[in-house]
Amino acid sequence: MTTPRVAATPQSAQRRDVEAKPIQVGLLGIGTVGGGTFKVLQRNQEEIRRRAGRSIDITMVADLDVARARSIVGEGIEVVSDARQVIANPAIDIVIELIGGYGIARTLVLEAIAAGKHVVTANKALLAVHGSEIFAAAREQGVVVAFEAAVAGGIPIIKALREGLTANRIEWIAGIINGTTNFILSEMRSKGLDFAEVLKEAQRLGYAEADPTFDIEGVDAAHKVTIMSAIAFGVPVQFDKAHVEGITKLSATDIKYAEQLGYRIKLLGITKRREHGIELRVHPTLIPSKRLIANVEGAMNAVVVQGDAVGTTLYYGKGAGAEPTASAVVADLVDITRLHTADPDHRVPHLAFQASELKDTPILPIGEVVTAFYLRLCVSDEPGVLSRITTILADHDISIDALLQRESAEGERQTDVIILTHDTVEGRMRDAIGKMQALPTVLAPIVSLRKEELA
Ligand code: HSE
Repeated sequence: MTTPRVAATPQSAQRRDVEAKPIQVGLLGIGTVGGGTFKVLQRNQEEIRRRAGRSIDITMVADLDVARARSIVGEGIEVVSDARQVIANPAIDIVIELIGGYGIARTLVLEAIAAGKHVVTANKALLAVHGSEIFAAAREQGVVVAFEAAVAGGIPIIKALREGLTANRIEWIAGIINGTTNFILSEMRSKGLDFAEVLKEAQRLGYAEADPTFDIEGVDAAHKVTIMSAIAFGVPVQFDKAHVEGITKLSATDIKYAEQLGYRIKLLGITKRREHGIELRVHPTLIPSKRLIANVEGAMNAVVVQGDAVGTTLYYGKGAGAEPTASAVVADLVDITRLHTADPDHRVPHLAFQASELKDTPILPIGEVVTAFYLRLCVSDEPGVLSRITTILADHDISIDALLQRESAEGERQTDVIILTHDTVEGRMRDAIGKMQALPTVLAPIVSLRKEELA
């Protein structure tokens, strides 16, 4: 018996031909991350080609500073100042948007999609605020919008949530997803310095931007956790519903007391599944010092994900910087290159769940969030003070977990009382704080911070 020979069909021959053609990429904005992307693609060109099945070439760059762009890419690549020339070029398959912000970046991304280009972006602000519009436009055009670099820089957390953990019902995510603030908090703790002092130092060292508002006010972390929340729970991106608090009001005193009680304070992005909705919040949070994530120091990022099947998983790495972020951008380029010829309906959905399956589960208002608390009360050191405070907490059904009172100095008539509570509904805690604040023996505004065990 002879083995039948299978002739190559015209279709598979055609397919090989398509596969052989390099993917052409247009880059919008060649700053730190753009430069890193260019360098990584060039340095690892051969391995990337072997993985992607064809070469991936940046063939056109748009940047307002044409001379600087030219000095980065050298000769042989078209450099223009007008991004729309890249979008209009029919040879370009993928546009990388590295301009940032919600303004012109949104217009250009939508124009690139309308022109049938796949888009890779590191722009968390854009996706957290306008993601629904952008993903809908991409679906309409059958193109991909890939954004691994938008959350936690080089850590492949989007891939992990969207694909690696796809078997799981995700319960919660908690992440240190802003390197600037983690650097500041690490310095405040290790040197006992206050926020303003460390911020100045961070700016001098280049860890913090000249305008650090988005970082220190928690907005950048909120953009990132909003994106993770959508992917984890199959809901639209809803940045406007996130509760956002930064670290500007945090004092070295509270970092010190937290440490004495076995906790570190981190700016966490948290999203949690609850029975009647989803918690979506960013705020300074006490976490037990013994947790791995509590020991993430400096500008590093880390994300903990709790899935029902896998249990707790932890992802750690650099959340910013030229090549770490480029690592994520290039991974997206490879993904798109592999899927370029696939039927759009058979690609991984942008937000992990099929677009028609997204739910309108509400994001819970902060008053309905359930968490434990750290309270610091500056009180007169006299009989009955503590009992009045604990009575108010008991009246609000708030259970105390630990209590610490600073020893007063000789002749001092006031002291600090630190209380750790068990989990409670935030609205109830706000009421209790209002009542405690009204006591004449409470001498200064009560400091309250949320605490999570992350168990
Ligand atoms: N500014 C961010 C940070 C990096 O400090 O982590 C980019 O998202």
